[in-house]
Amino acid sequence: MHFGLKGNVEDQKINTLREKLKTKIPEYDVKKIIKSYEQLGDILIISIPRDYKEFTDFIGNSFYESFECKTVLEKGSISGEFRVPYYKKIIGDGFVTTHKENGIFYKMDLSKVMFSSGNIAERIRMAHVSSPNERIIDMFCGIGYFTLPLAKYGKSKVWALEKNPDSFDLLLENIALNKLMDRVTPINTDCLKFYPDFKADRIIMGYFSDDQKFLLKALDMIKEGGIVHYHNTIPEKSEPSIKNDIEKLISNKGRTLEPLYYRKIKKYSPGVWHIVFDFKVN
Ligand SMILES: C[S@@+](CC[C@H](N)C(=O)[O-])C[C@H]1O[C@@H](n2cnc3c(N)ncnc32)[C@H](O)[C@@H]1O
Repeated sequence: MHFGLKGNVEDQKINTLREKLKTKIPEYDVKKIIKSYEQLGDILIISIPRDYKEFTDFIGNSFYESFECKTVLEKGSISGEFRVPYYKKIIGDGFVTTHKENGIFYKMDLSKVMFSSGNIAERIRMAHVSSPNERIIDMFCGIGYFTLPLAKYGKSKVWALEKNPDSFDLLLENIALNKLMDRVTPINTDCLKFYPDFKADRIIMGYFSDDQKFLLKALDMIKEGGIVHYHNTIPEKSEPSIKNDIEKLISNKGRTLEPLYYRKIKKYSPGVWHIVFDFKVN
């Protein structure tokens, strides 16, 4: 996935990179390595195939010199409640960068917070779903992945909840960077401990959990006719039952669900998909 560079400039950098890599690595694997890179601001994140671990420094340096970027990181796992990434620095200086996407600035520190390039279509979709009069609660807002497009392009009022103090600090910076102070109310809290004095028109649930307590909390906060954007990871075989499972939970609370939209966002692991399901709660 390549972001931030366009057309000829990107082609030139990739050509330079290809020539460098070809000096030590067979063509087929060069293609695989080039395909793996992600650019966030002036940082590159790359994957090193298992057979080429001994070439890690050579590959990292080749990207670094070809792209003239600030840092090259090796992709690692993302884990825990706060979704902290473990990326290894191969070469360069620092983990902090500002990535511009769809006219929005996202400052991030990749030693502390994640940013999923693969969710770009969903971030762009969020720029178009809401309207200026809406009151939205983003229950797991991170550094503002969905909050910022909702506030900037939908001109909606967003209550942005985030439990991790590191993500929260970056969220504050991003609200200021994008001049959205009048539209976003950031709150450093566990969303389960947030008790709004209004019912939301829309709720964003951008966190993977099978714990029903989050969905039940969303039901407490959503108005009649409000819309929930529900994200989760689902094994392929459980896909057909996801809507029914949620519907059952909602009907136990005496409310009804109207499905609006369903999409597989990206492959999360073998046989498992990151999905989004939008539904109206009546
Ligand atoms: C996976 S990240 C958001 C990813 C994002 N939706 C994207 O598109 O890349 C989820 C965020 O929820 C936060 N979080 C986890 N549990 C929470 C809770 N109970 N209340 C508020 N925030 C929470 C984490 O710290 C993390 O920043």
